[in-house]
Amino acid sequence: MPSQSDPYDAIVLGAGGAGLMCAAVAGQRGKRVLVIDHADQPGKKILISGGGRCNFTNIHCAPDRFLSANPHFAKSALGRYTPTDFLALVERHGIAWHEKTLGQLFCDQSARQIVAMLLAECEAGGVVIRLNHGITAVTHADGLFTVAHGGSVARAPALVIATGGPAIPKIGATGFAYDLARQFGLKVVEPRPALVPLTLGGEDLLFRSLSGVSTPVIARHGKTAFREAALLTHRGLSGPAILQISSYWRHGSAISLDFLPDAPAGWLVQAKGSKPRASVTSALRGHLPDRLADALAERLALPGDLGNIPDRKLEEAQRRLSAWDFTPNGTEGFAKAEVTIGGISTAELSSQTTEARRVPGLYAVGEAVDVTGWLGGYNFQWAWASGWAAAQAL
Ligand code: FDA
Repeated sequence: MPSQSDPYDAIVLGAGGAGLMCAAVAGQRGKRVLVIDHADQPGKKILISGGGRCNFTNIHCAPDRFLSANPHFAKSALGRYTPTDFLALVERHGIAWHEKTLGQLFCDQSARQIVAMLLAECEAGGVVIRLNHGITAVTHADGLFTVAHGGSVARAPALVIATGGPAIPKIGATGFAYDLARQFGLKVVEPRPALVPLTLGGEDLLFRSLSGVSTPVIARHGKTAFREAALLTHRGLSGPAILQISSYWRHGSAISLDFLPDAPAGWLVQAKGSKPRASVTSALRGHLPDRLADALAERLALPGDLGNIPDRKLEEAQRRLSAWDFTPNGTEGFAKAEVTIGGISTAELSSQTTEARRVPGLYAVGEAVDVTGWLGGYNFQWAWASGWAAAQAL
């Protein structure tokens, strides 16, 4: 039991979405909770999320929209704390919201409202938050975790790792969660940047000259496909379709883009029938931004009138346009990634409580864990749900 000088039931490391949710719920369940963060502000990623409006959840949340070595792990927490639960909290705090697209819910005004809401919930639970406190050592003995931080020491029988992943280090993101997990003998699934722009080299370099062009595509990797916009950049490929597929992409593999998601089969042959004097370029310009149409037509190398090109070649060209292969040479890395894929292995944790099986009292929540959502509010929903699940057990 905590002594008089260590009046905490739980210490939460990290004042991001998962840590604040966990602390608030545990506090309101009567637990004495301390939150420690090295940043000067809580919830910095919430503040920069969703273009400053925080895409705080997704009404289509389902376990198959999360990547993890164990695709079943997230089911328990996601099933017990749902988007409807978080929305009820948002509404209780009078925060106006709207659905933007694909079930993505955003604040009408500002992401600051979500941070303010979580802080108010923490206050209602009597949670103590210490910011600007670097963590210098964590030890465990006699059933108590000891955390040396910012010149002081705190002890508690439960410790929650909620320090996220290393995406966007310039706002204070670190791989601390993994170091701590390893210190306690827990396995870590190799962390990689995800929801991240892909870079192009070699023959694909030519596409970089189309920087700024955006077009709807279907991006595919293996059996996974996303129909959203792709954006060509001076380094390669970005936009929602690319960010989504980046989480599935592995070095050395290819992704394919369908540049004609709405063109029916045989469209180019039909175009030949209706406009035999048109060129491939002008046919493509009817479906794609001009610069992209011109670049793709150049690579297809079918000059002259459609009427003079054999049907077989037009069919082949359409097939290529519907599955244009790119082999990215990398990603823009953690500096530009929205999230980290991989993290503390789910094999080490209870899916009900997120407690480490081998280290009673140690919990891990949010992005620190090997659970990564799609783009569109899924990652925050995991942060809320996993934080809530741990809080039930503290
Ligand atoms: P999070 O990273 O939020 O919090 C971790 C906390 O731990 C931070 O406060 C950090 O300072 C602290 N910390 C780290 N290392 C430490 C150390 N060594 N010592 C002490 N403290 C330490 N998701 C979504 O669903 N909708 C969206 O709109 C967006 N938008 C978005 C935009 C951008 C630009 C990014 C980078 C990310 C998003 N995301 C998102 C993803 C989302 O922000 C992310 O999944 C959650 O913030 C993860 O919450 P956590 O609480 O797990 O970690």
